[in-house]
Amino acid sequence: MSILRGKNILLGITAGIAAYKTASLVRLFVKSGANVKVIMTPAAKEFITPLTLSTLSKNPVISSFTEPDDDASVWNNHVELGLWADLFLVAPATANTLSKMASGRSDNLLIATYLSAKCPVYFAPAMDLDMYKHPSTKSSLEALQSFGNIMIPVTSGELASGLSGAGRMAEPESIVSQIESHTLKELPFHGKTFLVTAGPTYEAIDPVRFVGNHSSGLMGFEIAKKAALLGAEIIYITGPSHYKTNDSRIKTIPVVSAHEMYTQVHSYFGSVDVAVLSAAVADYKPKNIATFKIKKSEATLSLELEKTKDILASLGSIKSNQLLVGFALETHDEVDNAIKKLKSKNLDLIVLNSLNDEGAGFGGDTNKVTLIDKNLVQTVYPLKSKVSVATDIMTEIQKIINA
Ligand code: CTP
Repeated sequence: MSILRGKNILLGITAGIAAYKTASLVRLFVKSGANVKVIMTPAAKEFITPLTLSTLSKNPVISSFTEPDDDASVWNNHVELGLWADLFLVAPATANTLSKMASGRSDNLLIATYLSAKCPVYFAPAMDLDMYKHPSTKSSLEALQSFGNIMIPVTSGELASGLSGAGRMAEPESIVSQIESHTLKELPFHGKTFLVTAGPTYEAIDPVRFVGNHSSGLMGFEIAKKAALLGAEIIYITGPSHYKTNDSRIKTIPVVSAHEMYTQVHSYFGSVDVAVLSAAVADYKPKNIATFKIKKSEATLSLELEKTKDILASLGSIKSNQLLVGFALETHDEVDNAIKKLKSKNLDLIVLNSLNDEGAGFGGDTNKVTLIDKNLVQTVYPLKSKVSVATDIMTEIQKIINA
């Protein structure tokens, strides 16, 4: 899954021959899961049609503040567009546009939007060899970068003029991957590895039966996805659950029993920065697993259960620099019990959910949590979707990391 998924991308197209490549660019952004809007300078329409771009982006294409030919016949608000965008890319960026961007000469919608944008701005220059070499172009490029804009460097090769040299716009695939890696580097958890446990564990009774619980695995799944969206690499160790992801930054390790989860968690813990143990691990397992299916011969059946190892507590006793987050599912004396777990398991943060709160805990798409850090500072959250709860947990983790 691309890091650009769900992002609002504003593409500004100016009048260079490389504009024909923006059809592929729009297509790649859309494929990555981004929302794309296109602004063109009026002259750019000579190189590629607004119809092509609006069809590919699934959004109207605009090129002036009030142009009647535009898909939007009302006033096109550059401030709103600038605020809408999570990132703004000007590609191709001609010498003319670069110079206007550098000097702030706001004589068209594209430049006005650039000046209004609060998001990261990328620009991919494209022009002929001699224009590219010209000192005035060089000074525009320098000025734009000194303002914090990110340049996607030109490549060398055959140019539309027939000359050969530097000045070609980077290929669309390369532009997208440069933006992806830059976006990733800017994310708060870039370079960090998270270990996340999720789901229930199943403890075998015989070859066909097990002792389990109602955990769906959704909370841990949302935590893993959110941490990945914030730039982390994830080791996602999950008990039986139907939640699956193909995000390349989430390495899924399926397990069944508490013992398997214990073994896998310990094999990765030494190499992670943060561990969030949200799995509903069985506290007890059958002492003996029957080799054959147990027949229903007697009126009653007794199972002898023995304790599983407490994975979270075992990590608390060996942790060095890792930030350790646990969960507490309680039915009474919730805060007191959660604080006891926080202390006895040597955690940095505990996520308390009470089964007394409607919509909290197992199953369902919602949760209501209280976060308690190791200084016993409590933050009580209202009932929210598990996606939003995952965001709150990540925000708290970020605070602890930055403290
Ligand atoms: N946990 C674990 N290994 C276990 C049991 C629990 O790692 N064998 C972790 C859970 O993933 C959770 C935390 O411990 O993060 C607390 O789980 P919970 O069931 O609320 O508490 P327990 O410590 O098991 O205590 P009790 O069931 O007595 O409340």
